[in-house]
Amino acid sequence: MMPYAGRRARLLARMQPGAVAVLGTAPEVLRNGDSDYPYRHDSHFYYLSGYTEPESFLVLVAARGEQAARSILFCREKNVEREIWEGFRFGPDAARQAFGFDEAWPIGELDARMADILADAPALYYPLGVNAARDAQVAGWLKAVRARARTGVAAPQTTHHLLGMLDEMRLLKDDYEIALMARAGLISGQAHARAMRATRPGMFEYEIEAELLHEFRRNGAQFPAYPSIVAAGANACVLHYSANNRQVLDGELVLVDAGCEFDGYAADITRTWPANGRFTDPQRTLYELVLRAQAAAIAAVEPGRPYSAIHDAAVRVLTEGMFDLGLLDRDKVGSPDDAIAARAYAQFYMHGTGHWLGMDVHDVGAYRDLTLPDKPSRALLPGMALTVEPGIYVRPGEGVPERFWDIGIRIEDDVVVTDAGCRVLTGDAPKDVAEIEALMQESR
Ligand code: GLY
Ligand code: MN
Ligand code: MN
Repeated sequence: MMPYAGRRARLLARMQPGAVAVLGTAPEVLRNGDSDYPYRHDSHFYYLSGYTEPESFLVLVAARGEQAARSILFCREKNVEREIWEGFRFGPDAARQAFGFDEAWPIGELDARMADILADAPALYYPLGVNAARDAQVAGWLKAVRARARTGVAAPQTTHHLLGMLDEMRLLKDDYEIALMARAGLISGQAHARAMRATRPGMFEYEIEAELLHEFRRNGAQFPAYPSIVAAGANACVLHYSANNRQVLDGELVLVDAGCEFDGYAADITRTWPANGRFTDPQRTLYELVLRAQAAAIAAVEPGRPYSAIHDAAVRVLTEGMFDLGLLDRDKVGSPDDAIAARAYAQFYMHGTGHWLGMDVHDVGAYRDLTLPDKPSRALLPGMALTVEPGIYVRPGEGVPERFWDIGIRIEDDVVVTDAGCRVLTGDAPKDVAEIEALMQESR
């Protein structure tokens, strides 16, 4: 049973009676010459429609009095000529039946029909200020409705930003979504395992990237969910490294941050492993510190606890470890509590411990309770999906123990909050030192 009609019904139930919501999908984008970037639908649009063809628009009309709610799709028409060149298109009739819309019309009729649909609607829900061309199109519809004022037609008096409501709906994943995210997590974990097995000193970073892409695609994932990071040695200390073009040297670690998108849902995994299959002592020491920080952070993922408890747990373990290993110095930064208050750990751990995850890798939804005056970190609820990704990045510097220089480590997993705690979706990517070394030795 497809979930889209149910989601539309839930949104419609929250709208003002008789109000209209409109939402277009993503445009096609030219890459160069006459070639487009691979097409990716808009996430909000897909959430409500399940429809992946470009040039599509969704219109929802909330129930009022005797009038039932309506959901209407505007989409590309069937076109035998274009389908010979580009492949199948649903066309309005088949799309209406397949995706459970009440009505479907050719996209070419959108502007003409919107003036009728908006006539006498009290409010319009629309993603304000996201796309200038769309804003102008919507303004044109409103102008057309107002032009009918003398015939007794009223134009919408209020406009609401549609995405705030949708973001909150998307933040809580339903079972359908969690199943897709688990599949994306499984494939991505297997891709990391494959890349570990394939890694040899002397390879180039892009050869390791190719192993990941191979495993994504052979399992039916449509895209990488974001640009893959394959960072050897000091490149691991560049947080958004993406060149992936350097040779991997014997004795270095390789940090790999890569996940696939499966049927519209992202996985986001980081693993860090030794090029030659064996951690050196300083590498293992830092790796095990990050692993302990991640375990503490994952243990903090429980319904009712604030989102910020996850980062706080990681920071506590990392900061205490930095003192034990001589990365932070009591004479300079005081106690671990002082170091946390002053963010002294940020010299080596400068990013957050995670983010919401879903159709977008950095998924939608507020991180704070914006209804309260001091906007505290919001409480975790079952169905929220997020990453847990502590790390440590040691750039050379005065007073920094040399044995740790240029080591960068991150360990990232994807979890969903459950009634009791959380479920890890990415457990198939090896993570313990012994597990990684055993897997890499097997393949040598
Ligand atoms: N791969 C993006 C992130 O970890 O946030
Ligand atoms: Mn992440
Ligand atoms: Mn990541």
